[in-house]
Amino acid sequence: MSDAAAFDLVIRNADIATAADRFTADIGVRDGRIAALGSGLARGVSEIDAGGRLVTPGGVDSHCHLDQDTGDDSVMADDFLSGTVSAACGGTTTVIPFACQQKGKTLREAIDTYHQRADTRAVIDYAFHLIVTDPTAHVLERELPQLVEEGYTSFKIYMTYDALKLNDRQIIELLALARVHGAMVMIHAENADCIAWLTEALLEEGITAPIGHALSRPMLAEREATHRAISLAQLVDTPVLIVHVSGREAIEQIRWAQGHGLAVYAETCPHYLLLTEDMLEDGPRGYQCICSPPPRDEGNRQAVWDGLVNGTFQVLSSDHAPFRFEGPHGKQVAGENPRFDQVPNGIPGLETRMALLMSEGVMNGRIDIHAFVALTATNAAKLYGLYPRKGSIAIGGDADLVIWDTDRAFTLTNDALHHNVDYTPYEGWQMKAWPALTLSRGDVVWDGVQPSGTRGRGEFLPALRPQPAQPHRPLNPRIDTHRVLPRFAFPAVYRG
Ligand code: URP
Ligand code: ZN
Ligand code: ZN
Repeated sequence: MSDAAAFDLVIRNADIATAADRFTADIGVRDGRIAALGSGLARGVSEIDAGGRLVTPGGVDSHCHLDQDTGDDSVMADDFLSGTVSAACGGTTTVIPFACQQKGKTLREAIDTYHQRADTRAVIDYAFHLIVTDPTAHVLERELPQLVEEGYTSFKIYMTYDALKLNDRQIIELLALARVHGAMVMIHAENADCIAWLTEALLEEGITAPIGHALSRPMLAEREATHRAISLAQLVDTPVLIVHVSGREAIEQIRWAQGHGLAVYAETCPHYLLLTEDMLEDGPRGYQCICSPPPRDEGNRQAVWDGLVNGTFQVLSSDHAPFRFEGPHGKQVAGENPRFDQVPNGIPGLETRMALLMSEGVMNGRIDIHAFVALTATNAAKLYGLYPRKGSIAIGGDADLVIWDTDRAFTLTNDALHHNVDYTPYEGWQMKAWPALTLSRGDVVWDGVQPSGTRGRGEFLPALRPQPAQPHRPLNPRIDTHRVLPRFAFPAVYRG
């Protein structure tokens, strides 16, 4: 920094919106952090005139899959370079992808592998969730406690997918461990046996087209698993976060739990707000829109909007799961016109998540700008232990910022995006806004035309133990937690 300048960077005349406040100010940045907010700030080495435009915290996308092993010949199209470049162009400055344990291997091996993939490639900051697929005694007793200590303070549990799913007993053990060590548990709630039985029945009937995917994963299978996940969490009194909730019946379970004072948090994604299952009957688009849970009908789509408006959902993530449509390693890994159950699950959305919610949520008058910030940045930062460094615009926090162009009406096309996927489910969508500038720790990583973050500049963020993951009350007083959970070392703070 030059002697005469007070800041490395000053952003002038910003219309700042956080989850709580709205005010006009200059933003002074020093060493990548916000050092001052006020009017008439002293000079910076560089200056950006926001010109009264809306400025929000950079997005925290707390559910995205990058360079994740799939278990078959399909390959994710985005690695930590293309994925984070694309995120930055869409206003996201922090991602929390997954380090997925391979059955028979340790969590430490997963962490080492995903760091190797991320550390020299990411252009924005990142943390990791663990995916626990093989909760052996070694994993539970040794690895998870140590990894939580090192900053991996959230993990995802699957109730479906043969290679990933856990049984109820395993889920209980993990919830108990999370309770003791203060980690946040994310749950993919779909009933695997219902899906397997229906899939077999549909195939026997000769139904192989993409719509079979939706028929094999009905709302009922999600509702049942959501109910069970909540019940298991209640048994152990452990907060949980239900991910990618797709419709009304699951929302009803979550609202019941929240109404009964249980710490049950919920996430949804743009595709459940904007896509419907009839798109699975639309030729190639059908394959492109296969994700789990599937997009539902119009009534469910409205119910998800209602849940966003009434506060049932705390988080809007992309669940970016990038597979190309063309080529031998994407949606058609099993050949042309594959059976619905042989299509890799997932759709891309890292780059479009924030602008879609700005356009369809804020600018269409469904939610206010504070809810937008909470859903796209602040709540995820809090739920996953990255707050207050990430998720707001406050002195001491990282200068992760988005200057918005809210006068920009345009038609979205995949050519304009920076991911490595050859389609977007939102092709032709009428957008009302897009980030004009994205800053990560004070560096411009997207200038409205070009991505500009250098490969490897993204930093790993060791996460704190999230405050919302702390249990509400002692376990059942008749249960001696030290006897029931003898394997776990109880930090004093959690002794009931
Ligand atoms: O279809 C999806 N959501 N694929 C990604 C994996 C997951 O379960 O989130
Ligand atoms: Zn999932
Ligand atoms: Zn996912």
